[in-house]
Amino acid sequence: MPTKSFFHGADWNPEQWPEQVRAEDLALMREARVTAATVGVFSWSRLEPTPGVYDFGWLDRVLDGLHDHGIGAVLATPTASPPPWFTLAHPGALATRRDGVRLVHGSRDTYCVNAPAYRAASLRIASALAGRYARHPAVRLWHVHNEYGTWCFCDHCARAFRGWLRARHGTLDALNDAWTADFWSQRHTDWAQVLPPRATQYLGNPAQELDYRRFLSDSMLAAFAEQRDAIKAVAPEAQVTTNFVLGGWVPVDHARWSHEVDLVAIDHYPSSLDGVPAQSAFAADAARGWSAAAGHGGSWLLMEHAPAHVTENGVQRRKPPGMLARTALGHIARGSQGAMYFQWRASTGGAEQWHSAIVGHSGPATRTYHEFRALGETLASEGRAPSCRSAYKKVPFQTGEAGSPAAGAGDRGVAVWFDEVCGWAVGASHLPAPLDYQGVVEGWHRALWRHGYPVDVVPPTATLAGYRVLVVPAAYLLTDESARRLDEYVREGGHLVVTYLSGIVDEHLRVRVGGYPGALRDLLGIRVEELDPLPPGVVVTLDNGDAVTGWTEHLTAPDAEVLVRHAVGRPAVTRREHGVGLAYYVSCALDEAATARLLDGVCAAAGVAPILPGLPDGVEAVRTADGVWLFNHTDEPYDIAGRVLAGGTVTRLPHP
Ligand code: GAL
Repeated sequence: MPTKSFFHGADWNPEQWPEQVRAEDLALMREARVTAATVGVFSWSRLEPTPGVYDFGWLDRVLDGLHDHGIGAVLATPTASPPPWFTLAHPGALATRRDGVRLVHGSRDTYCVNAPAYRAASLRIASALAGRYARHPAVRLWHVHNEYGTWCFCDHCARAFRGWLRARHGTLDALNDAWTADFWSQRHTDWAQVLPPRATQYLGNPAQELDYRRFLSDSMLAAFAEQRDAIKAVAPEAQVTTNFVLGGWVPVDHARWSHEVDLVAIDHYPSSLDGVPAQSAFAADAARGWSAAAGHGGSWLLMEHAPAHVTENGVQRRKPPGMLARTALGHIARGSQGAMYFQWRASTGGAEQWHSAIVGHSGPATRTYHEFRALGETLASEGRAPSCRSAYKKVPFQTGEAGSPAAGAGDRGVAVWFDEVCGWAVGASHLPAPLDYQGVVEGWHRALWRHGYPVDVVPPTATLAGYRVLVVPAAYLLTDESARRLDEYVREGGHLVVTYLSGIVDEHLRVRVGGYPGALRDLLGIRVEELDPLPPGVVVTLDNGDAVTGWTEHLTAPDAEVLVRHAVGRPAVTRREHGVGLAYYVSCALDEAATARLLDGVCAAAGVAPILPGLPDGVEAVRTADGVWLFNHTDEPYDIAGRVLAGGTVTRLPHP
């Protein structure tokens, strides 16, 4: 099956280069054991230079050339960047900002996904590509569009939003109720009054904003599905995906989208050089979680990452020697079917001319190209890629409605709950204090990762049974169904850790009254009376000496044991027995060391041990089907399990 392909390669833009450079590229790719190149991502103006007139000759040669060199193609549809003729002919299909300004042509992603002309033109070019190439022997995978995520607030969107809201809420009364429309006199009496959350005088309606993100996600998903179906109409066996981009600003519900792709694919661009190992582990674990929950068995693909740099606060920092291979192998060990890069050859002009590449401006005689080629040799000598033996079995998608399968103490280690829709809700500007939802989730994941626990990142639809520990950070928005599943998880033997700002609002952002966290109060045996976020610089201490910054709460623990108190005496961390499991509540923001200490206790009580106990800081272990992979992210050599692990290197230990 094509999705079993292994992908070692990069985005390639041959349309930017003369034939002679393309030929050199193919030879270099072959030398570096490239298995696939992504082509056509931004090629619309070359493929359809004038409306309805196609020029496929150059792409024919590119695909044939790849095939002749034994290299596969990840063939993109170019719809993320319509050509100038399209936007001139259809100005109404340009994206409109929240403040009503319609953007002009000049960059990429400047389209309205709900504009009929854009959708029709996209479908036409995708169908034309499918008709010509679906059976081309080089094509391994279809890459529809690029990083869906463009916002628009135009009248096309307003019309489509009303239709989407009718389907979701049924009646205007239900919509008014869900949006708490009696606040600030927002009760609608006609659907025509309902608008996208455009720029307004002061704070907008948070429920409207959240529904708009859900709507944009569904609009883009429909656009993706149209193209996917056009490809499959020609070649039903074709494997089709799109590259997810992670980040709270993206109005795409990746857990939901994962059901619609044949292979979950993500792009990953860490935000700091030091953060590369932990951020990469989180992204990979999240991708694996989306794949598993959608029934793909935990397999996924790293579609893009940068070969030689990390942009940190606007500064491109060079990756040190060895990081290229460590990062790629880390993703592969965590279930990726390879590691693809953006980009193969650096452009000489254009907005990304300074982006790093496998082949930079100075040609292939560089450390980056040599490291990439060496990685290709390693992967080839492996014969097959290592794949993470995570918690996942191939399971059909569980909606949760039918109830989880029998739980009980399992052997799946730790799971961290990650709900992007909840993240959108936490990102709203009216909360008691700004909170970076993904940052909080990543903080809990990082503490587990640093101490070497086997950890999965799971969406709310995941099968929870069998995880010994489940951490649910800042789950501000929690549906009734999720609350029911968490209760069941603990009752049947799970050890649940819930943090501050969880279980507070329902899916329409309406507070569950009677004491926070309304959705989990009984399960946790506590009652939070007041949220008490701390301003920057304020530190409070707990009776075990731990320091807290950022967030605290005032709670009573009528039905739970208090494990840690504030120095002033009020409860900070609690635990309650429920069924045969345990439910912890952590009401304040602990630093990473304190988080790790707490998790050590929780994991020990639940019978979860690190993959390899006592690893030095900076050495990472990943358990895979074919052994335990060790990654030394430091410059120091270490003696581990009788082997010397040189600084910056990767090795694999057989299973004991
Ligand atoms: C990605 C995008 C690529 C390229 C890259 C640069 O998000 O898909 O086309 O722009 O970023 O880092």
